[in-house]
Amino acid sequence: MSRISLSRFLIEEQRQHGALPPDLRLLIETVARACKAIAHSVNKGALAGVLGDAGTGNVQGEAQKKLDVIANDILLEANEWGGNLGAMASEEMELPHSIPDHMPRGRYLLLFDPLDGSSNIDVNISVGTIFSVLEAPEGNEQPTEQDFLQPGSRQVAAGYALYGPQNMLVLTFGQGVYGFTLDRELGSWVLTNSRMQVPETTKEFSINMSNQRHWEAPVQRYIGELLAGQEGPLGKDYNMRWVASMVAEVHRILVRGGVFMYPKDARDPGKPGKLRLMYEGNPMAFIIEQAGGAATNGHQRILDIQPNGLHERVAVFLGSREEVERVTAYHA
Ligand code: AHG
Ligand code: MN
Ligand code: MN
Ligand code: MN
Repeated sequence: MSRISLSRFLIEEQRQHGALPPDLRLLIETVARACKAIAHSVNKGALAGVLGDAGTGNVQGEAQKKLDVIANDILLEANEWGGNLGAMASEEMELPHSIPDHMPRGRYLLLFDPLDGSSNIDVNISVGTIFSVLEAPEGNEQPTEQDFLQPGSRQVAAGYALYGPQNMLVLTFGQGVYGFTLDRELGSWVLTNSRMQVPETTKEFSINMSNQRHWEAPVQRYIGELLAGQEGPLGKDYNMRWVASMVAEVHRILVRGGVFMYPKDARDPGKPGKLRLMYEGNPMAFIIEQAGGAATNGHQRILDIQPNGLHERVAVFLGSREEVERVTAYHA
């Protein structure tokens, strides 16, 4: 069996479909290299002294883990000198990070969640990295926060790395979804999942049930119907999974279907949800839609939302089309 590396895959995509401009290809290669370095740190764990709290907080009001900070630094360092970026934004930084003046700048904007599911890191459960690529509006020498505030439908690429039993990289640039597995000995991402597709129907759902009493009526109704199983209006028994790492959840849905939900929470009426639109909701929605699934905030496509802030939150319903359409219809 001849193996197709990420580099070969990207070059062939560029040649065959012209869908992938060379500077975007190089940017994806750089992000993929950074994810390899993050995988290395995550996999070493206690042996490298990287577990536990950093002792600092982020703009989300969360305590940062050491690996939140390490992964953020790895992504910044790897991408700073590539010449393909105008600026970067991250869950772990309040403001965008500009490319230093002495370095070449490019036309893309990169957003990332450096370590997703970091509450799981100290207990050795899968975590990941999520990223999203936008184009900077033309004629902008030094991109500002405003330049990032584009709807997710304008993403030119998105992906995630999953640090689990296998390290995987899943990518889209609008021509389907492809998965790569890290060959640790060779240090190379190898194509293992072509044209990933979310099954249209499912019997599996993911939600943090401990928040049930805070959900709105449409979500109460929908989850009630799922829990009613065969005797309920949906006429089938459902299974439930909750990893508390969005990357692991989305990956499971890409492979065997399911519906993932993080709804709005009545405890915090000002916030539309917990997850962040620009570096969690949008890239995952792009991937799920490219794989034939659906992603909404209960009212509209996540990809159609006009963001008002870098760290804006969003309610998320994504996965198998039939289920996402049902729970979205209940919100109407
Ligand atoms: P992060 O670790 O990047 O802050 O994201 C955590 C997110 C997401 O990965 C997961 O789906 C969700 O938070 C889990 O939330 P609960 O702890 O409320 O279940
Ligand atoms: Mn966090
Ligand atoms: Mn996250
Ligand atoms: Mn994170």
